[in-house]
Amino acid sequence: MNARNSVARSGFALATALGFACGSLGFIAGCPSVPPTTGGGEPTASKFVGADTCMPCHSGMHTDWLATGHATALDTLEAIGQGENAACLGCHTVGFNDDGFISRAETPALAGVQCENCHGASAEHATNPGDLALRPSVDMSATLCGSCHTDAHHPTFEEWQLSKHAMALEGLRSNPFAQDTCMMCHSQDYRHAVEDQEVGEDVEVPTLATAQLSIECATCHAPHGGVAQDHQLRQPIANLCGECHTQEEAMLGDSPHHPQIEMLTGIGAFQADGSGLVQTHAHSALAAAGGEACAQCHVVRHEVEDPNEGNPNVTGHTFNPFDSDITTISPEHQTDQYTGCRDCHTDSVADALRSSLQADLSARLDALAPTFDAESATFIDPESLSTADQARLATAKFNFEFVRADGSLGVHNPALAQGALDVAEQIINDLTGQ
Ligand code: HEC
Ligand code: HEC
Ligand code: HEC
Ligand code: HEC
Ligand code: HEC
Ligand code: HEC
Ligand code: HEC
Ligand code: HEC
Ligand code: HEC
Repeated sequence: MNARNSVARSGFALATALGFACGSLGFIAGCPSVPPTTGGGEPTASKFVGADTCMPCHSGMHTDWLATGHATALDTLEAIGQGENAACLGCHTVGFNDDGFISRAETPALAGVQCENCHGASAEHATNPGDLALRPSVDMSATLCGSCHTDAHHPTFEEWQLSKHAMALEGLRSNPFAQDTCMMCHSQDYRHAVEDQEVGEDVEVPTLATAQLSIECATCHAPHGGVAQDHQLRQPIANLCGECHTQEEAMLGDSPHHPQIEMLTGIGAFQADGSGLVQTHAHSALAAAGGEACAQCHVVRHEVEDPNEGNPNVTGHTFNPFDSDITTISPEHQTDQYTGCRDCHTDSVADALRSSLQADLSARLDALAPTFDAESATFIDPESLSTADQARLATAKFNFEFVRADGSLGVHNPALAQGALDVAEQIINDLTGQ
């Protein structure tokens, strides 16, 4: 087990503990930012008022929220005869065990997951909206969602914590080339502020020093819904991951980074004459409108019969089912990494195709690497070449980096990965007279 795995694993245990600690406080969503309780011991009217009270002033959000699964979370319990089970109500209603929800009959306004689960008790704000001190909290962190989206039934938060997305800001900060604009793909609070600024709002945009959030739940999901996408996703699923997993406008001479969307859709590499190399594959069809694109293979749910801590459900939120973090959670999950392939390949075929293709491409990348490494004996120094040959060498290097940076060793698009390396190898053979 490597260092990242052991850190990540203790994160899993910690998150589970946190989930339970929060649950026992009753006001589940309040854990990250416990709302101020009013002084005096006298029970007053509830500090929770329910979403209907917010509607006149926040009608757009109210309409959007009504159409989400959150609004009907108590109905879900009632449909299976669990509408009065105290073990369930904390995450399916507002303020249960905390001066809020009691029962459907007594507190009908507090049924389901509502505004105040995420923003804290807001009765005082609703009657004094002008008082800044009483403004409800706005928390965009995964910890907020994770106070309910946790435990063996739906360990979404624990899986997210294991993912590189949870480490995106930390990772960026330790990079010597880091600057504020990098955070468009590495930080939720930066991204959100820039988007607000673009629509004319007067907001403070965080800097590399002040940003706090990585790629959190609310980076991909719209907390109020209203987006017409399944799963409250902010983007159609086919575009979601490619917003960041793109080499953007990388030109010859650049080093392409994370070109996964280009690789999948069959573009982004070059032919020997410097024109674009276009090569689609059966996998490219997954990125067409209506397809699941990256999520087909990378965000795959897998439910087990009796979820428990040693054998939890899998929600697909490590975003990398091929990472040993997920396959070693329990023996039952060892072949889950191929769940997304099952529409088209059996597990054993997918495994065999993947291993042989990856072995072949790794060998080809290893063979090319010394050509571009100034320390190696077979390095080709661009300075020693004519201008025309320098351009060809740059094409070979770009294609090599393109395949390497994609990270799937060919699986995303076997045809383009092989085609791009064919071009690179042909150029190098010509230049070395082989
Ligand atoms: C009488 C009108 C009114 C009612 C009722 C009301 N609000 Fe507000 N709310 C406001 C105003 C005004 C603002 C400030 C808007 C702004 O600054 O753009 C605000 C701001 C907010 C904010 C944003 C705080 C921030 O820092 O940006 C949240 C969250 C919020 N309200 C939640 C609620 C919730 C939850 C309810 C129902 C329990 C509610 N509001 C009821 C008028 C109201
Ligand atoms: C108070 C607990 C709680 C909090 C906090 C919470 N959720 Fe949920 N969420 C639920 C429950 C319960 C359901 C299941 C509702 C159902 O199916 O009846 C759910 C369902 C969902 C769904 C599926 C909804 C659909 O329309 O099908 C998404 C997506 C989701 N939550 C995202 C989030 C995100 C993102 C956050 C944080 C911004 C969040 N949730 C915060 C309890 C919570
Ligand atoms: C720790 C918070 C939490 C508790 C406690 C909780 N739920 Fe949920 N429940 C959720 C969340 C979050 C979802 C949405 C899961 C998703 O879509 O990934 C959910 C979804 C559901 C669903 C929709 C189907 C599904 O599995 O996604 C049912 C049914 C359900 N819960 C029943 C129950 C019952 C019965 C209990 C009590 C025995 C309970 N829940 C206790 C948070 C909780
Ligand atoms: C599942 C959690 C969740 C629920 C439920 C929820 N919100 Fe929010 N709300 C958020 C988050 C996270 C943000 C900040 C990120 C964003 O706006 O996308 C936010 C932002 C806001 C803002 C500030 C808008 C802005 O962009 O500055 C207001 C006002 C607000 N919510 C009101 C409400 C009201 C009213 C309801 C109920 C009808 C509600 N929210 C339900 C999580 C939630
Ligand atoms: C907001 C930008 C953004 C979005 C949207 C996004 N990612 Fe990422 N992703 C990143 C960043 C940044 C990293 C690298 C973080 C690090 O290593 O510090 C990353 C890392 C990953 C990794 C881990 C790679 C590794 O080296 O182990 C996978 C797998 C991944 N993302 C898949 C996805 C999938 C699938 C989606 C869509 C469901 C998606 N990403 C959406 C920015 C994004
Ligand atoms: C267009 C979105 C985007 C922008 C802008 C961006 N990144 Fe990233 N970054 C990603 C994605 C996606 C990954 C994950 C790549 C993968 O695993 O294939 C990543 C991964 C990383 C990693 C960790 C993985 C590695 O390569 O070892 C570092 C470090 C990094 N980026 C630094 C930066 C710096 C520095 C900047 C600004 C100069 C920047 N990024 C700008 C999307 C972006
Ligand atoms: C990088 C993007 C990304 C991030 C970050 C992310 N999700 Fe998701 N989430 C997705 C995608 C994509 C799906 C749909 C997967 C599919 O098609 O099966 C999804 C599905 C879900 C669902 C199931 C919805 C349903 O209707 O069944 C829930 C619940 C959910 N996410 C909650 C969360 C929570 C909670 C977090 C933070 C701990 C989170 N997500 C972080 C991309 C993301
Ligand atoms: C046909 C299934 C499939 C599709 C579609 C797919 N991937 Fe992959 N992806 C894989 C496989 C298999 C790997 C190799 C994993 C390994 O060997 O560890 C991989 C590797 C990766 C990696 C590198 C992970 C690492 O550990 O370095 C990233 C990042 C990634 N994919 C992101 C994406 C993004 C973003 C998309 C959409 C543009 C996408 N993938 C589409 C199957 C797929
Ligand atoms: C939408 C259907 C579909 C899905 C989903 C899918 N594949 Fe494929 N895949 C194909 C087709 C069609 C081919 C080309 C015919 C063939 O080689 O079997 C192919 C070819 C391949 C190849 C290339 C074989 C070679 O050397 O030429 C590999 C490797 C592969 N798939 C792995 C995977 C893996 C791993 C997954 C899941 C993570 C996956 N595929 C998901 C349809 C799919």
